[in-house]
Amino acid sequence: MANKPRIGIFGCGRGLSMGKYVGPAGGEIVAVCDHNPSKLENAKSVLAEGGKAYARFDDFIEHEMDGVYVANYFDQHVPYVIRLLEKGISVCIEPICGATMADMVALVRAAEKYRDRATFMFGENYQYTPALQEMKRIYQTGKLGQLLYAHCEYVHPTTSRERVLYAAGHNHWRNSLPSTYYNSHALSPLMYISDAMPKVVMAQSTHCEEYQKGTARGTDACGIMMTKMDNGAIFTTTGCVGGAVHSTWCQLTHFRGAMETVRYDPSVVAVRYTSATKPEDSPRYNTYIPDPPFDGQKSAGSGHGGGDYFVVREFIRCLEEGIQPYNDVYRGVAMAAVGVLGWRSVMEGGMPYAIPDFRDEAELVKWENDTLSPFIGADGKRTLPTTVKQDWKADPADLAAAEEIWKEAKSFTDYSWPGKELN
Ligand SMILES: NC(=O)c1ccc[n+]([C@@H]2O[C@H](COP(=O)([O-])OP(=O)(O)OC[C@H]3O[C@@H](n4cnc5c(N)ncnc54)[C@H](O)[C@@H]3O)[C@@H](O)[C@H]2O)c1
Repeated sequence: MANKPRIGIFGCGRGLSMGKYVGPAGGEIVAVCDHNPSKLENAKSVLAEGGKAYARFDDFIEHEMDGVYVANYFDQHVPYVIRLLEKGISVCIEPICGATMADMVALVRAAEKYRDRATFMFGENYQYTPALQEMKRIYQTGKLGQLLYAHCEYVHPTTSRERVLYAAGHNHWRNSLPSTYYNSHALSPLMYISDAMPKVVMAQSTHCEEYQKGTARGTDACGIMMTKMDNGAIFTTTGCVGGAVHSTWCQLTHFRGAMETVRYDPSVVAVRYTSATKPEDSPRYNTYIPDPPFDGQKSAGSGHGGGDYFVVREFIRCLEEGIQPYNDVYRGVAMAAVGVLGWRSVMEGGMPYAIPDFRDEAELVKWENDTLSPFIGADGKRTLPTTVKQDWKADPADLAAAEEIWKEAKSFTDYSWPGKELN
């Protein structure tokens, strides 16, 4: 490897936001790739001297790189990731680690097969806010006792215009995204704090006409999953809830005490014991803003409460030291399976679904051909509904309103899969 890890960025929307932390985290960006000309033009600003911008993935992958930050379309990560790993290029990916069960199986098999030459990391950022890193530290002291249940919500309100512009094209993944799929911002913090893995999921979803009005969204505004974990605790987590108000609240109730980030102020940690359970060396009530455990200055002001910097830092550290990340492929696909099988649960009125053990070959064989998907496939069709309201039909007036906004903002994406996208 060169002096500094050489990083490529694939997908220069979210990818570019993460690219700005590569330098401070110790790497350099040597190549960027986006087939959207204006996104590619913007991305040139983050290139190191001599770096190159590519419109086609086939050309990009030939560039000398140690690692690639993958931020292309949500449902299309896996085939590209497999090609990168095969070539010995390490990968850090944005949500989701496979939009179908078959994708998850293929991803696990590739990460294992090429493990000696390339590292796979799931780049989930929310778990790395200073408050959640502090809650992991407290959890590990054991003072709170057994974890009984925990709750984490990710609520991201948007205007209808934003919902149209974030999903520029009728077939864009955000217009087909079931309410349980974008679940890792809520599930990863709890898995990170407790090291627990999911065993069984049950889910429900809320349809909301106002959320869809004036947009091309065929999706629900809220999905909630109840997951039994391998440590016996029960987690309730959201997908990406579309309602008011912005929230990333995280709360854990243990047998001897409880802790949470303060609702609507996620930088604050509150820890509580009863008078009977208070440890000698801890106050009964403590509410404070923790500092990050390291790199305070570098992470200050970074996106998502500081989490964005720490994701990039961990990826670079894995490349420098040849170590595995916390969010390895097994954690990544376990989160994806909670979202994807959670949606099957919604479709069946809340039936429980077992989360496969992705280390068990028999489980991989069971799911390897399960390609059911709510996203538009190569044949222009989807094989799962996108809303719990199964008789729902798009209102032509809403679709026309979305088209007007795309036209005026000149932001329509010719989003088709795989066809010309998988270049
Ligand atoms: N962690 C977070 O907080 C966070 C926030 C936003 C988005 N994301 C994730 O980032 C990813 C991208 O989302 P986004 O918001 O940037 O929107 P997006 O999915 O619309 O953008 C994807 C970008 O990749 C490019 N692209 C797609 N396929 C390509 C191909 N084959 N060749 C070249 N370029 C290609 C597109 O032109 C576009 O610029 C998604 O996985 C999403 O889940 C994460």
